[in-house]
Amino acid sequence: MVGSVRSMEAFDFRLAKENDLDFISQLSARVFLKYGAYDETVLGWLLEPEVITVIIAAGADPLGFAMLTLEREKWLEPRRGHLLAIGVLPKHQRKGIGTALLEHMEKIARKYGIEEMLLWTAVDNQQALSFFQNAGFHIVGSEDHYYPRGQAALALSKKLSQ
Ligand SMILES: CC(C)(COP(=O)(O)OP(=O)(O)OC[C@H]1O[C@@H](n2cnc3c(N)ncnc32)[C@H](O)[C@@H]1OP(=O)(O)O)[C@@H](O)C(=O)NCCC(=O)NCCS
Repeated sequence: MVGSVRSMEAFDFRLAKENDLDFISQLSARVFLKYGAYDETVLGWLLEPEVITVIIAAGADPLGFAMLTLEREKWLEPRRGHLLAIGVLPKHQRKGIGTALLEHMEKIARKYGIEEMLLWTAVDNQQALSFFQNAGFHIVGSEDHYYPRGQAALALSKKLSQ
């Protein structure tokens, strides 16, 4: 699938493949390491059958990734999606790429009948909080010592219209 960001730079979405492992792990090390060994954690998530991992790329160059799990059982109401991670290369941040990627993940979730998207982000991660609140997420909870390195986290939720 092809789209464009604010700068009108062309970009693509694709499911992550084996040769994206280094990109995902290295970007996670850059942006999530202060919270825990997420360079390794994300690789574990990648192997889970329930996790959908999407790369946003400009041509052959990956710019960011996002990971989503789905609670798909029909008896679970409301059906929820959990955004496990989203990251954009620091030099490409603030160009609308994260928004395009998040919208793409919401579109995938809707296709599976997901009615609510949930995620956790660190209390001290102001850029992520602004990003998610700008995208329509609301704070619905919190947990002390959520991350392996001890930081507190906020739970955010967004209802997805079908
Ligand atoms: C959060 C993240 C994915 C956002 O990606 P992005 O491509 O930079 O986001 P966008 O350019 O689409 O930003 C959309 C809006 O979010 C808000 N926002 C994004 N980055 C921000 C920042 N550093 N400070 C304040 N607001 C910010 C703004 O409202 C922005 O709109 P604007 O640029 O018109 O003001 C990116 O900053 C990132 O990879 N951070 C490190 C990893 C992380 O913390 N992930 C989230 C937890 S899993």
